[in-house]
Amino acid sequence: MKLTAFFISIALTFSVATASSSDFSAHLAARESRISRPFTKSTNATDNGPLDGSTTEDLYSTNWAGGLLESPPVGQRFIDVGGTFVVPTLRGNDGAMSVWIGIDGGPNAPQSILQTGIDCYIIGGVNYFFAWFEWYPQNAFEITEFVVSAQNKITLRVQAVNSTTGIITLTNESTGQSGSLEVTAPDDDAALQGQTAEWIVEDLEQDGTLVPLPSFGQVQFTDAAAFTGVVEDFASVGVAVDMVQNGGFVATSTINENIVTVDYA
Ligand SMILES: *[C@@H]1O[C@H](CO)[C@@H](O)[C@H](O)[C@H]1NC(C)=O
Ligand SMILES: *[C@@H]1O[C@H](CO)[C@@H](O)[C@H](O)[C@H]1NC(C)=O
Ligand SMILES: *[C@@H]1O[C@H](CO)[C@@H](O)[C@H](O)[C@H]1NC(C)=O
Repeated sequence: MKLTAFFISIALTFSVATASSSDFSAHLAARESRISRPFTKSTNATDNGPLDGSTTEDLYSTNWAGGLLESPPVGQRFIDVGGTFVVPTLRGNDGAMSVWIGIDGGPNAPQSILQTGIDCYIIGGVNYFFAWFEWYPQNAFEITEFVVSAQNKITLRVQAVNSTTGIITLTNESTGQSGSLEVTAPDDDAALQGQTAEWIVEDLEQDGTLVPLPSFGQVQFTDAAAFTGVVEDFASVGVAVDMVQNGGFVATSTINENIVTVDYA
């Protein structure tokens, strides 16, 4: 994989990448503790049964909404996941969320996640965005060279070269500008299993607690597909995940072929 000039500087400044962007408020200083978590099941969901009496088969989570492929075809692994979305404009009260795609981290593979995406913050009515990748359980690394604004159309791709090496790619669809990084698992316990693939809006964690989910309107992933090396699955082969907090929906999701739509509830 060729590193573009665009991202070579990131590779060189890797170890300091998380130390940036604590300038403008305590909220953002807390980003140093920011972490994405695996799918956490809502205690409201005893099974996939509906919270609201509807006939949905959705999964319920306290921290994820979006689309989830729960397992690959027997004997295969997800090795390549992609999706495109438009960065939302946040409104209202202070809060933060993350829009990302990844391999593993679903109920069948909670020990690790290889993921990349955009963190979206609103603080005092102002939107801030940060590109990042994370190989959970390690905290996220910020990709400061990829400067993001609301309404930018971004394509994300996560590939597993093998279980402990991956490639993440972010592309600006307006310019075609694209950068890739080769990343490695923090340790062997974080080796990918390739058992889940997902397109997620996450209520992320800072200082060990979920930050308030901001009013994001809608996030739609298009071209949401995952490849095992043998077959390509659209998101529609999987399940929609709704975010439930304090007994109520905060984000609901639908999937149609390769389009995953997440609505702020
Ligand atoms: C994408 O390109 C547009 C047009 O040049 C630019 O305004 C925007 O900031 C870029 N976004 C990213 C994430 O590179
Ligand atoms: C995974 O791929 C990387 C990059 O090609 C290589 O350096 C590494 O040795 C491989 N690891 C395993 C366990 O095969
Ligand atoms: C969901 O969980 C919350 C918090 O435990 C509880 O107050 C609420 O009644 C639950 N709602 C349902 C529908 O089970």
